Amino acid sequence: MLQEEWKGMKKIISMALALSLAMTMGFAQSQKGNKKKTEKTEKAAKAAAKGDPEKGKEVFEGKCNICHNPDSKEKKIGPGLQGLKDGKLPSGKDATHDNILANVNAGGGGMPAFKELLTDEEKEDVVAYVMTL
Ligand code: HEC
Repeated sequence: MLQEEWKGMKKIISMALALSLAMTMGFAQSQKGNKKKTEKTEKAAKAAAKGDPEKGKEVFEGKCNICHNPDSKEKKIGPGLQGLKDGKLPSGKDATHDNILANVNAGGGGMPAFKELLTDEEKEDVVAYVMTL
């Protein structure tokens, strides 16, 4: 894909993400007062805040390992992901939770979009795992 096209797509993706986030927040707001729902939302937010790197390793081995080396920077189909804990992604972007999660959701440049392929929990776990590499 051309760099320019990809940039355009990224813009659209981030707009779509912002929109769905706004909608989710609106939804959470409308559920205020419903204690059970609120507790559930809080629990989900907590789970989202800290994925389990141990479980993430299993997700990685099942879904990401075919294209990414976890223990070297050497390219397979995608770039080796070793060194993310030092703070930078292979693209040069910051290796933050949000950037990696966005990358996992959207894919691109040869990487499949995992938005619908992994549960939110699996995504959080795999993000937590790759941040330890
Ligand atoms: C079919 C192969 C394939 C699979 C499966 C795959 N990726 Fe990728 N991934 C790629 C390619 C190719 C790139 C480079 C994209 C680019 O340069 O634009 C990439 C890039 C990345 C990057 C670097 C992004 C950056 O900004 O530098 C991360 C992090 C990543 N993938 C994580 C994952 C995780 C986590 C999984 C499993 C859930 C996964 N990938 C599954 C092919 C894959």
